[in-house]
Amino acid sequence: MCGIIGILGNAPAAPRLVEALKRLEYRGYDSAGVATLENGAIKRRRAAGKLANLERVLAEEPLAGVTGIGHTRWATHGAPTTGNAHPHATDKVAIVHNGIIENFRALREELKNAGRKFSSETDSEVIAHLITHYLDKGQSPEQAAIAAVRRLEGAFGIAVLFAGEEVVLIGARKGSPLAVGLGDGEMFLGSDAIAVSPFTTRVMFLDEGDIAVLSRTSVKVLDADGKQVERKVHIFAGGVAAVEKGNHRHFMQKEIYEQPETVGRTITRYVNAFEERIEMPDFGGVDLNAESAVIIGCGTAHYAGRVAEYWLEQIAGISVETDIASEFRYRKPAFGKSAFSVFVSQSGETADTLAALRYCKDNGLKTLAVVNVPESTIWREADARLPTLAGPEIGVASTKAFTAQLSALAALAIAVGRARGTLSSDDERRLVRTLMEAPRLIAEALGAEPEIEKIAQELSHARDVLYLGRGVHYPIALEGALKLKEISYIHAEGYAAGELKHGPIALIDEATPVVVVAPHDALFEKTLSNMQEVNARGGKLIVITDAAGAAAVSEIAQHIILAPACDPFVAPLVYSIPIQLLAYFTAVHKGTDVDQPRNLAKSVTVE
Ligand code: AGP
Repeated sequence: MCGIIGILGNAPAAPRLVEALKRLEYRGYDSAGVATLENGAIKRRRAAGKLANLERVLAEEPLAGVTGIGHTRWATHGAPTTGNAHPHATDKVAIVHNGIIENFRALREELKNAGRKFSSETDSEVIAHLITHYLDKGQSPEQAAIAAVRRLEGAFGIAVLFAGEEVVLIGARKGSPLAVGLGDGEMFLGSDAIAVSPFTTRVMFLDEGDIAVLSRTSVKVLDADGKQVERKVHIFAGGVAAVEKGNHRHFMQKEIYEQPETVGRTITRYVNAFEERIEMPDFGGVDLNAESAVIIGCGTAHYAGRVAEYWLEQIAGISVETDIASEFRYRKPAFGKSAFSVFVSQSGETADTLAALRYCKDNGLKTLAVVNVPESTIWREADARLPTLAGPEIGVASTKAFTAQLSALAALAIAVGRARGTLSSDDERRLVRTLMEAPRLIAEALGAEPEIEKIAQELSHARDVLYLGRGVHYPIALEGALKLKEISYIHAEGYAAGELKHGPIALIDEATPVVVVAPHDALFEKTLSNMQEVNARGGKLIVITDAAGAAAVSEIAQHIILAPACDPFVAPLVYSIPIQLLAYFTAVHKGTDVDQPRNLAKSVTVE
């Protein structure tokens, strides 16, 4: 899930490569590198750590040349060192790779036996040696690249630069996305459209198994059978401008504060405010009046799906199964007679979610994508799409994408209820009115920041934290724990409040704060009993609740985070805010890298 850029240009390549890599850091940021052709010879600069380190190296030792490739890495094979950073090169070829080469051991052995010397611990380096091996046999760059790619097993998006070949750049994809940017007398390769967006708006997405041979003025695309094919050119206007933090200290903070707007924008997309009805886009044959639905995603997107499971069951009476994509894809799940499937993803590139979508398609299910990045792979492959209008999310920890997913899924639940006849027009109007209150309630919830910041200071000293929630707030508790883990590195677990006594209660002691998501709703009294159980065992309660709930827990809670009173339907949207702020300020107090936490990447395009 690394970022790739290739440039066959007319201007100095190195600064342009770095500019593209800045937009790709969301795909990985543990090392970076570029290679250009200087008078036909391959020259490289690489650095471990953030892109800023590579920029420093380039400032000290600049690279000339107008043709080049660049890479930002998320390590799979080999530690994040300079030696393992891409591009990997021989004297004839330099390559950048996104994905995993599964048969790299066998290939490496074979190439070593043929006398080739390896210098990294990566799976990717075999690609450079394999292409060189075929060049040494007298094959042309195109022939050598094709021969090498045919021998690769696993997932890859690659860009290949050839020594002495100022007019050729080759890209290939299988399992990992790759886009071609068509410029004016220039050509580009990118792991997505965002990579090439500083240089052109004309983008061609390669299909599975495609190899693209680029010159400055033409693109030849060969499909998996080696047949020359045409691929559609899209106009991609998104992502041209670099996103700025504004007055905020971190992107995550900015994104948390954008939520009244992003939720409002997403809801407005699906609501006819005048008639107080949900209006959905063309569903491409997805029948909402089905017997059952499956909702698939990873991480935060999965938790959004878990919230939607409650909504769909309660509002539309439809049987729903939710799962993590990495489990779902290998479970061989069976489906009832009529079912549709929903795939939730911010990036639209998550490898497991995409594989799950393809599994459903292969099994005859219609697929619906709730996706934030337009023209991403999941967006393009689904039968129908429900865009979330969160705008670019830069912080690795997902915040505004989550509430935008909840917004789109809430609208979907109402639409399914109508399609299945479980919702009267009056009920629909009431739910739509309630949903439209979400942006205002979120803005109110943001007002708890000063109190949350104080609590976060204390929380930053904890080693373990438990999060509890019931019903629709159970997935919010899971999301709260995930947020805290991701950015503060504090161990946190989310549990269904009622499950506490079945084991996790053993963890309660004075040093383990327990965050409880508990609006004063129909399940509040049940959760209150669980809070009593924690209190009786010396546990420290941080309760996120409304005024009525606060009155009920004032004796037992160590801290109360006040949220606005709201209808249970929109409560998951509203209660997402305090859990995000709590994680954010805890990380700030700990001094971690909030926007780019260790070991993570924004978009997970490998299994
Ligand atoms: C959330 O904070 C995460 N960084 C992560 O769990 C993320 O939600 C997951 O990787 C899914 O990504 P997607 O939405 O782009 O598919």
